[in-house]
Amino acid sequence: MKRFAVFFLTLLFNIAAAAAPPKPGYDAVASAQPFATRAGMQVMAEGGNAFDAAVAVSAALAVVEPYSSGLGGGGFWLLHDAKNGRDVFVDGREYAPAAATATMYQDQQGNVIPGASLNGPLSAAIPGEVAALVYINQHYGRLSLAQDLAPAIKLARNGFPLDRMFHAMLVSREAKLKQWPAAWKVFYPDGQVPPEGYRLKQPDLANSLELIAKRGDAGFYQGKLAKEMVEAVRTQGGIWSLEDLRDYRVVIRKPLVGEYHGMKIISAPPSSSGGIVLLEAFNILSGYDLSHDSDLMRKHLIIEAMRYAYRDRADYLGDPAFVKIPLARLLSPYYAAGLRATILPDRATPSRDLAPVTAVPPESNHTTSISILDKDGNRVAATFTVNFRFGSGFMPPHTGVILNDEMDDFVSKPGVPNGFGLVGNAANAIAPHKRPLSSMTPTFLETPRGLAILGTPGGSRIISMVLLGALDYFNGGDAKSIVSIPRYHMQYLPDVVFYEPGAFTKDEITGLEKMGYTLRQTRPYGNMQAITWNYKTGKVTAASDPRDIGTAEVK
Ligand code: GLY
Repeated sequence: MKRFAVFFLTLLFNIAAAAAPPKPGYDAVASAQPFATRAGMQVMAEGGNAFDAAVAVSAALAVVEPYSSGLGGGGFWLLHDAKNGRDVFVDGREYAPAAATATMYQDQQGNVIPGASLNGPLSAAIPGEVAALVYINQHYGRLSLAQDLAPAIKLARNGFPLDRMFHAMLVSREAKLKQWPAAWKVFYPDGQVPPEGYRLKQPDLANSLELIAKRGDAGFYQGKLAKEMVEAVRTQGGIWSLEDLRDYRVVIRKPLVGEYHGMKIISAPPSSSGGIVLLEAFNILSGYDLSHDSDLMRKHLIIEAMRYAYRDRADYLGDPAFVKIPLARLLSPYYAAGLRATILPDRATPSRDLAPVTAVPPESNHTTSISILDKDGNRVAATFTVNFRFGSGFMPPHTGVILNDEMDDFVSKPGVPNGFGLVGNAANAIAPHKRPLSSMTPTFLETPRGLAILGTPGGSRIISMVLLGALDYFNGGDAKSIVSIPRYHMQYLPDVVFYEPGAFTKDEITGLEKMGYTLRQTRPYGNMQAITWNYKTGKVTAASDPRDIGTAEVK
């Protein structure tokens, strides 16, 4: 009997061991800037894990890609801890200062003041990135915070050659940054846009990073740096207080989990809208066998799934600490079946025929995303931002830190368009210490074949990009294919399908137009970073979006 029990237990153990995927045995990083990718690989070579690499890459991006993200911004870090198989979502999204009000961007007549939520310190929410990086280092890293921040400090202190993307950003933002002397001095050292290849040094930012390396989040949220930021913000018409900074905390959330024909999808919960919209679209698509449809029919159904999912985003979503989100209903397969039943096989559904809402999410065009895997199977997908290019443009003197303009992700006034010509509703109205609704969608995919780690910037288009990338992975794509496939996007309003060159064939364009779609070709968009690991072949692939200058490394 005893022998049988031992045999049985051994058998069980062997079955479990066979079912568990092996360790990948490779470190991999994909990010939007070559020096940041290097920083991640470097800390892993020094004994760090994927979480150390996430801190190193995020901090390096604050130096080499400050128009997209930085210490003055915030975002989301989705982690998978291989030790216990747990997924954790670190919400380091900014929150509104305590003195913020729902009407703070309106004049006395109740009109929205153009640009007020986009420029200068009044547009800046309280940053969350530093708190997130310190949290990840303390709870998940193997190296010290100083080790994780060392590559970023070196890049800031010694400088790095200006790349073509940074140069283009400086050209496009010259007028905005000229208003703020500290930023102007750092980025336009001779009073003009420096040429490509110019060695850009940021000594104040290096000092700020060193302070954080020494004191952890107290180095940023309290003491000298906090005082400098608050004083400068208030002098220039902003409303931050020392207490806003002192009281900022990351929120640790459970990621949203869904399923599509056997593929597990792990993604961003509110205060991002990303996971809900992604999973709702997948729930709608789950009722079809897309592999048996023509390309035209498949694209029609995917566009309709985007339309319905984005409509609900607009209506229901905001910071869950302030708004009751009907999550169970939105993610129920029965709800998706009801929506699917109204999709016609041969016709576009006019958005005006869906129940009207007053809101469409704002769109941002500068944000960054990273994907990381380590040899033990720890993973990170993170998307973070200062919102628009160089955020508010405002840099408190002596800090080297560009502050975000994330307040524009709130709704300045229900029904009144924001900086992108878009409108919103009360669920996303401004309130003290509320987090503005985001579209950032860092995501893991798990199938019997293996796993994928992906994310991208791109404002409201982030979610449709992740949807298309995930479908590509489901259909057998590797990292290169996931980041390269041509993209198309529909977000309910405007009732237009935007598409990149090559996303539709000539016949598909004719077919979609016949169905009633309005199509508009756009410039290529997005900057996706992806990693895949195939359990069977052991192959790890990593890729950075060919539309931009990022790099991916596997070692
Ligand atoms: N700032 C853009 C977003 O969070 O979606």
